Amino acid sequence: MVKPGRAQIRYATGGIFMGRHLSIIVIMPDYAKLSLNGAIAKLPVFKGTEGERGIDIRELRDRTGLITLDPSYANTGSCTSDITFIDGERGILRYRGMPIEELARKSTFLETSYLLIYGSLPTAKDLKEFTTNVTRHTLLHEDLKNFFSNYPITAHPMAILSAMVCSLSSYYAETLIARTPEELNLNIARLIAKVPTVAAFSYKKSIGQPFVYPHNSHSYTANFLQMMFAVPAEEYKVDKDVERALEILLILHADHEQNCSTSTVRLVGSSQANLFASIAAGVCALWGRLHGGANAEVMDMLERIRHDGGDVKKYIDLVKTKKNKIRLMGFGHRVYKNYDPRASIIKNACHKLLRKLHIDDELLDIAIQLENAALHDPYFLERHLYPNVDFYSGLIYRAMGIPTNMFTVMFALGRLPGWIAHWKEMRGDPGMKIGRPRQIYTGPTLNHYKPLAQRR
Ligand code: ACO
Repeated sequence: MVKPGRAQIRYATGGIFMGRHLSIIVIMPDYAKLSLNGAIAKLPVFKGTEGERGIDIRELRDRTGLITLDPSYANTGSCTSDITFIDGERGILRYRGMPIEELARKSTFLETSYLLIYGSLPTAKDLKEFTTNVTRHTLLHEDLKNFFSNYPITAHPMAILSAMVCSLSSYYAETLIARTPEELNLNIARLIAKVPTVAAFSYKKSIGQPFVYPHNSHSYTANFLQMMFAVPAEEYKVDKDVERALEILLILHADHEQNCSTSTVRLVGSSQANLFASIAAGVCALWGRLHGGANAEVMDMLERIRHDGGDVKKYIDLVKTKKNKIRLMGFGHRVYKNYDPRASIIKNACHKLLRKLHIDDELLDIAIQLENAALHDPYFLERHLYPNVDFYSGLIYRAMGIPTNMFTVMFALGRLPGWIAHWKEMRGDPGMKIGRPRQIYTGPTLNHYKPLAQRR
């Protein structure tokens, strides 16, 4: 491994990195040459359609005995993919080449899901078929309803969601292996259709209200809203602006290439685990507070600041001391180092919806003050920390009446087509192998077993 300080980069387009025993000579654009103690490996340079380049190290170990070390994979391309393009420096996000701004303005969640999963926008006939297929699979097997009564009332909806998604695999054993495209399409439609029902039922369970069944006359998002908020005792009318805001939120969350949960879905799926099991693993990965759990953390943070008198500067100063590792939640991103294009769309949608619903939310004021303070503070500027997708999304969910512990479930609803698209792409790749990273062992060297009596 080249140690910092010992390495030098000689020139930018083709470079030479020098160590005592190691040199990497990069000869652009086709290959890189790595020499270690006299052993030379010529490694192909792979170029993507948007000009990104990566050294293909698949044969590195065979040729040199070395592996690459990249904990947290910040510099590792785990696959090639046709689905989503991100340019973190320029704040670009495109699904199948289409700018996120256009999709958020013009598309629906189901259409975007089709685009991600099947590679192109659907024709009118395709969309009708896809929509009908999803709409007709929204009901859960009646036995599955019993599962909900076995959770404590305090159960986190992400725990229920992951368990229920995995449990779906036991109800569709006949198509589980998906031997044909038709069987795979059926599994896909079932998942997209049933996840909102599971999510809404878990919410109803948590507040002790009866489950509201899906209704085929509604759009995908309107159906979810009525399953969440309708009660049998009275008529429920879906607000068209809330419905559209939800479409936008789901579209914005629909895919984000090789993030933690998507990589999890791919890794689990690479062992030939079925689609339901792989997606359930993705739900668990999303739950973490540094990933999908951040939207709920943002609301907690805003509430804490409000309870503390609304002193934004005090909180920013606290973050900067790094005491107790407190972070400005909803800020920063592994990939976006300029701005997150989803954040500005959500911010606008948030303002629009709150205005329309005549909601004057003190937490929105605190969020705006926090954003302004951070965007003018050298600590955040130097580290390229900008609001991410989660900074404003919680405020819209709150305006819709969605409780904080459901925020990450909302993220999962949105991310579902992305997970499916990546699973399908990976499993359709004839060269697919089980994912299995290596490691550099740093534990004890040979250490013989001592009988209990000899140990101190
Ligand atoms: N608040 C304060 N400081 C931060 C923040 C933040 N939100 N994010 C990063 N930093 C600082 C780190 O302390 C570090 O500082 P240092 O150089 O002095 O050590 C520097 O910025 C780099 O941080 P890393 O953790 O190395 O950045 P990484 O790319 O690994 O992390 C992450 C990205 C996890 C998103 C991080 O920015 C974070 O924790 N943000 C808050 C949680 C959040 O909003 N997550 C949602 C992400 S979007 C999504 O998953 C949909």
